[in-house]
Amino acid sequence: MNMRAPRGTQDILPGTSEKWQYVEQRLIDLSRRYNYKEIRTPIFEHTELFQRGVGDSTDIVQKEMYTFTDRGDRSITLRPEGTASVVRAFVQNKLFGLANQPTKLFYIGPMFRYERPQQGRMRQFVQFGVEALGSNDPAVDAEVMALAMNAYQELGLTSLKLVLNSLGDQESREAHKSALVSHFEPHRDELCSDCQLRLEQNPLRVLDCKKDKDHSAMTTAPSILEYLNDESKSYFKAVQNHLQAMNIDYVIDANLVRGLDYYNHTAFEIMSDAEGFGAITTLSGGGRYNGLVEDIGGPETSGIGFAMSLERLLMALEAEGVKLPIEDSLDCYIVAMGEEAEQEAVRLTQLLRSNGIQTDKDYLQKKMKGQFKSADRLKAKYVIVLGERELEQNAATVKNMASGEQTELPLDEITGYLEQELAGGE
Ligand code: HAM
Repeated sequence: MNMRAPRGTQDILPGTSEKWQYVEQRLIDLSRRYNYKEIRTPIFEHTELFQRGVGDSTDIVQKEMYTFTDRGDRSITLRPEGTASVVRAFVQNKLFGLANQPTKLFYIGPMFRYERPQQGRMRQFVQFGVEALGSNDPAVDAEVMALAMNAYQELGLTSLKLVLNSLGDQESREAHKSALVSHFEPHRDELCSDCQLRLEQNPLRVLDCKKDKDHSAMTTAPSILEYLNDESKSYFKAVQNHLQAMNIDYVIDANLVRGLDYYNHTAFEIMSDAEGFGAITTLSGGGRYNGLVEDIGGPETSGIGFAMSLERLLMALEAEGVKLPIEDSLDCYIVAMGEEAEQEAVRLTQLLRSNGIQTDKDYLQKKMKGQFKSADRLKAKYVIVLGERELEQNAATVKNMASGEQTELPLDEITGYLEQELAGGE
């Protein structure tokens, strides 16, 4: 019997889950500032969506999907990424008909890929991503990259590199594709079996091969940038002008090929050059996908987006030694001695919690000393002591744990007192 979590998955435990919550909240706030609204789509979809959306010839579709047949004999796949689902939801819910366009959406949620697990590469990972659908303005491309860079910078990362490329429009891509085929054809037999297939299905992906990356034909392969037609060139230039206007540094890498089939024009990745970040240096990636909405059955609509995993983001924060400002203290701990006091502690705990004060008490029948120890361990800011003597006078002692100061107060004044003290201390 295997009672361990499956390979490539992880439990996120208290102590770490606070970091996740903090980061997620910051990403939600950031999305709000850029006016991206949240979308939540199902964790599983019909397999055809990804075959068509992500692309049949991609590693994701060919090797990495968690696909199963459900009890109704349908082929279902756990989503390997978010874009195809967002586009499906955009089409199905006719979001293209809304008055305000582009439709700007963000999502945070688990994605699943059957990959070889290593640091920064999981089989279940959480992506934060944004998609802007319905505008062909290069300023939106720049906005998405600005949002992505800001996400990292605002959390405190500095060792970042934005790598940019253009894959051009259909015409440019076709021209480049033929050039690639003519270039690699004489070397076909020297390439790996995957690349031989790619040469037929999607020659651009040959440039992304890990096995053949040192082959001499790789370094001399024709660059997409030489094959951009005038329209694609001027689009690429406009994107760069916008980035420069926002003071966002970038480097152009003509070999940047994304692992998904839907891209055209802008393609980008953000890398970390922090020491100790690990072998995988890509933090996030994205690009423009102008034909995808149509492929999925919607009207002609352009789109651009990006996604990052929170696992890699947290790894980068660790590698750069960024400390997140996470409070792990407790507002108030109630110490009670005796049966009557215990009863009062139950009542008071509930009252304080209902008034927004984070409160806990003992549930292990500990002695007074043990209860104080618990309060210390939980980093309680205030401890309320309910003893027989205090209770006789309908009162309790409130101790400020930082200053050691103690005040005896009537029970019905405690909530107000703590509210004031806690507000003042912030
Ligand atoms: P992707 O490059 O496949 O693009 O993934 C984007 C990001 O997800 C990666 O840069 C990385 O941060 C994270 N990621 C991918 N696979 C794993 C993994 N196995 N373990 C941990 N993190 C991982 C997409 O998914 C596109 N949907 C991005 C996009 C959105 N393009 C346009 N809109």
